[in-house]
Amino acid sequence: RKPQHRKGTFTDVPENLLQQVHDIEQQLTVSGDTLKKITEHFITELEKGLSKEGGNIPMLPGWVLDFPTGKEKGDYLAIDLGGTNLRVVLVKLGGNRDFDTTQSKFALPSYMRTATLDQLWDFIAKSLKSFLDEFFPDGVSSPLPLGFTFSYPAFQNSINEGVLKAWTKGFDIDGVEGHDVVPMLQAAIEKYDLPIKVVALINDTTGTLVASMYTDSDAKMGLIFGTGCNGAYYDVVKDVPKLEGLVPDDISPDSPMAINCEYGAFDNEHVALPRTKYDITIDEESPRPGQQAFEKMISGYYLGEILRLILLELAEEKKLIFKDQDLSKLKELFILDTSFPAKIEEDPFENLSDVQELFQTVLGIQTTVPERKIVRRFAELIGERSARLSICGIAAICKKRGYTSANCAADGSVVNKYPGFKERAAKGLRDIFEWETEEDPIKIVAAEDGSGAGAAIIAALTEKRLAAGLS
Ligand code: GLC
Repeated sequence: RKPQHRKGTFTDVPENLLQQVHDIEQQLTVSGDTLKKITEHFITELEKGLSKEGGNIPMLPGWVLDFPTGKEKGDYLAIDLGGTNLRVVLVKLGGNRDFDTTQSKFALPSYMRTATLDQLWDFIAKSLKSFLDEFFPDGVSSPLPLGFTFSYPAFQNSINEGVLKAWTKGFDIDGVEGHDVVPMLQAAIEKYDLPIKVVALINDTTGTLVASMYTDSDAKMGLIFGTGCNGAYYDVVKDVPKLEGLVPDDISPDSPMAINCEYGAFDNEHVALPRTKYDITIDEESPRPGQQAFEKMISGYYLGEILRLILLELAEEKKLIFKDQDLSKLKELFILDTSFPAKIEEDPFENLSDVQELFQTVLGIQTTVPERKIVRRFAELIGERSARLSICGIAAICKKRGYTSANCAADGSVVNKYPGFKERAAKGLRDIFEWETEEDPIKIVAAEDGSGAGAAIIAALTEKRLAAGLS
């Protein structure tokens, strides 16, 4: 559905407010030329990240050294510690580019983002226990291999370890940064005496890449546009200078190597992205200021917060909207999650009655029709900027690897649920590449279940290597 309220179409909006709206429109609009410039800088930064000296973008080798063939088979457990849920999945790989999954979701209690270490691991182990009780009431004959999808930047020197670099997406649990999370998880599993062996730690993007290649041989990238934003692709060992001296002798320099870019950290030095004062405030409010500059402008964890800051400025500081309304809820940090701007854009009615209901329920604010139209415009702008900036990572990887055509497998709440995201992202890619073909050669496609199937396939690939005596 096309957005209805475009620039200049507002009626009944006082001139001084209209001026502000146009000003915000300008700040949040990213031209095709800017996208091209950002992409060029992105390529340089990807290369820097692979160098010995390193750069802002971590470019973490994921130690997945094989492409999936689609023939991987067997039963695996996978867990995915996401922003809102812990997902436990039993994956049955069929061996014919097919798989079946059985899963349970355990909602993370709201305190988990800032819980203690023990609370975190206990929560995970208890969830695993209740999953086994339900689906394996008679126990198992041998320990179940588990792939751990850990969607945070983790340094790995092998597939079965992951030293957390720094929490992202608002997580802030003490005692994990700088430590290997695999033994922590294994210890929690043992505490509850569960028949489970952790065999692989993967990033959600790497899982998405591998799961999508299992079913689609044209898949070249695994991407998440969700609470966080990140991508993975396969590079080649000899083209990753920082791997020198770290690769065991039995791994060929020509071997593929999955790279978890962690490109949410792109432009932490603030030279390429058109940041607004709202982006700067979000950074300052966050538990890790100065980090994840790119992610903080585009990912789901922050989109509602950007809208909140804009509204608060117009209501409180400028006194141009929501007159005589109680603003106390609007002042609460992160009170608006991404579903808020997403639902605003979804409202099909001319008087935006759904938007009014949303404001009433979530913020206790009574809005006028012109105010709702303006809010709707902000939601469009925030969503459009997110989509357009997001694809600079894809464009940069394609240019760096020389891909002229690619299926870019994407998952996450923003790409799946934010209205218009896919179309806007596709338009952004067209602005960068200026294709003249009827069909876009580089396409964003829906990903396979990366954190379940991907983790399982990687666990299967790992077991196969171990059985063959390979590192
Ligand atoms: C954040 C994490 C990254 C993850 C992404 C998507 O950027 O640091 O590891 O892949 O979110 O979940």
